[in-house]
Amino acid sequence: MNAPEPAVTSPMPHVMNTYGRLPIALAYGRGAWLWDTEGRRYLDGLGGIAVNTLGHGHPKLVPALQDQVAKMIHCSNYYEVPLQEQLASKLCEVSGLSSAFFCNSGMEANEGAIKIARKFGHDKGINRPEIIVYEKAFHGRSIATLSATGNPKVQKGFEPLVEGFVRVPLNDLAAVEHVAKTNQNVVAVFLEVIQGEGGINQTRAEYLQGLRRLCDANDWLLMLDEVQCGLGRTGKWFAHQWAGIKPDVMPLAKGLGSGVPIGAIVVGPKAKDVLGPGNHGTTFGGNPLAMRAGVETLRIVEEEKLLENAATVGAVLREALQAGLAGESGVVEYRGQGLMIGIELDRPCGVLLGRAADAGLMISVTADRVIRLLPPLILTADEARQIAAILCPLVKAFLAEPVASAK
Ligand SMILES: Cc1ncc(COP(=O)(O)O)c(C=O)c1O
Repeated sequence: MNAPEPAVTSPMPHVMNTYGRLPIALAYGRGAWLWDTEGRRYLDGLGGIAVNTLGHGHPKLVPALQDQVAKMIHCSNYYEVPLQEQLASKLCEVSGLSSAFFCNSGMEANEGAIKIARKFGHDKGINRPEIIVYEKAFHGRSIATLSATGNPKVQKGFEPLVEGFVRVPLNDLAAVEHVAKTNQNVVAVFLEVIQGEGGINQTRAEYLQGLRRLCDANDWLLMLDEVQCGLGRTGKWFAHQWAGIKPDVMPLAKGLGSGVPIGAIVVGPKAKDVLGPGNHGTTFGGNPLAMRAGVETLRIVEEEKLLENAATVGAVLREALQAGLAGESGVVEYRGQGLMIGIELDRPCGVLLGRAADAGLMISVTADRVIRLLPPLILTADEARQIAAILCPLVKAFLAEPVASAK
């Protein structure tokens, strides 16, 4: 008699199965390097999906957080939290906006932005406010933010969706002008300056400038989701600053706390008085530990000139990738800016995630066929070249395989 097949058991049987995970458990990190529980080393081209701004174990961040943990981790928003004011004023300084609300994630920041837009509409007598959103957008996985998201896979199974969103294609100003002419209920335009999950799709500077004009002309809020592309990743504090415009509402999260969970809605004069006491809140939002992480992250980014580093090392990385993949007809396009880079292939390439990890490199694949790199902003030029040196041969070998092997 044959021996019974061993039962396939999950290494995390008590954790709800909501992610497709690789069989790797990361144990610790230093700078742009990670080690797993087996002692294998990886170069971090992913930065926890644009979260680990300062890499891992940063020698200035760690003692600051240890100090804060010892002083105070949480206190209620019944009281003043001086670190909230410190972080808010710094965010206002670098964005040119007016005030901030703190929460705990990107989805929460976007949920708050949607509430601001709706209340802004109600305050001026629009009882069924609508928000212009985008094809291929990603704004989170709460019911309202997944409704604003432009990916049917994220929405499937969670209908009925929240109403009040009008969808348009990216970079098509005529489509927004058409909505302006035909829909009196619009109160805001809501978009990522560079779509992250949607495949590193950039909004053109003239398009953003056109949206700013349309928002001003129609008394709409311009709401720019900088959750993934903000906080220095493109070489400026915020990606929209390359277009020389300012939003009215800017949700942030991910890189703001260098790994400590945090979210923020930063608003300009048009939106700053929309919410008042009792309109919005969250127990954990603005807690001293997260605020200290934000304050120290922004301070260290400035002190170590990481905006400049993102721009220059991003250029090195992109050049090395382009050189390493020169002549590959399966590469459709290189996109992104600074240390937010997408390489679109002509076929689905999810298998590269595991193959890169096996070769000692963390990457992401998004929108099925886009290799995405979001390394920490402390990446060195030498590490950038190492990323390309590991990744390019894997991509070449993959593109040489019959298409059927792609997953
Ligand atoms: C642009 C954008 N907005 C919002 C979110 C949601 O953020 P979170 O996962 O922190 O809820 C993400 C996450 O990937 C994002 O990329």
